[in-house]
Amino acid sequence: MDSVRNLVHGAGLGLRRSFLSEIVEQPPSDVGFYEVAPENWMTIGGKFGKQFRAMTERFAFVCHGLSLSIGSSDALDEQFVRDLKLFMREHGIRFYSEHLSYCSHGGHLYDLMPMPFTQDAVKHVAGRIRRVQDILEQRIAIENISYYAAPGQEMREIDFFNAVVSEADCDVLIDINNIYVNSVNHGYDA
Ligand SMILES: [Fe+2]
Repeated sequence: MDSVRNLVHGAGLGLRRSFLSEIVEQPPSDVGFYEVAPENWMTIGGKFGKQFRAMTERFAFVCHGLSLSIGSSDALDEQFVRDLKLFMREHGIRFYSEHLSYCSHGGHLYDLMPMPFTQDAVKHVAGRIRRVQDILEQRIAIENISYYAAPGQEMREIDFFNAVVSEADCDVLIDINNIYVNSVNHGYDA
C-alpha cells in the first residue's frame, strides 16, 4: 500500500478513453502512475478493454471514485463495491479513494453535494466507509471536497473530517486546492 500511496505524491495522469490509443502506443516516460474513475472502466470491453488491460499490465494505477455516494441516505450500493473489488483485483489496482460527500438521493445528482457537518452525519458516513472497507477487505481513502454551503452545520469542517476519518478508521486523500477554496469561501485559515 505504501508504494502506491507514495506514487500519489508523484506525477500522476488521469486516463481518459479519448487519448487511450495514443498512450498505449507511446506511453509517456514521465508518468509515475495513472488515475482512473473506476466507474468509467469497470464495464468496458472490446478494443478499449484490451487497451486498458495493456496499460494496467505495464503501469501503476489508482482508482479515484465518483459515484459511490458514500454520504447519501440512500442504501449503499454494495453490488457496485463488489464489482469494484473484482475490477481492482483483475487489474492489480491497490488504491481506491472517494469523496466525503453524496451524489445521489433517490437518483443520481451528478454533483458532489456537501454533507451536513453534524455528529449524526459522522456516525452515518463512518459506518458506510467501514462497510465498504469490509467488502473490499482493504482501507480506502476519503477526500475533502469543496462546498458552496454547509447545511445544518454543527461543527467545523476540519472537526467533521477528522471525526469521520477516526471513526471510520480510513485513509485520507487531501485536496489542497479544496482546502484553499473553502477557506476563501467560508472565511477560515487554510
Ligand atoms: Fe476528487
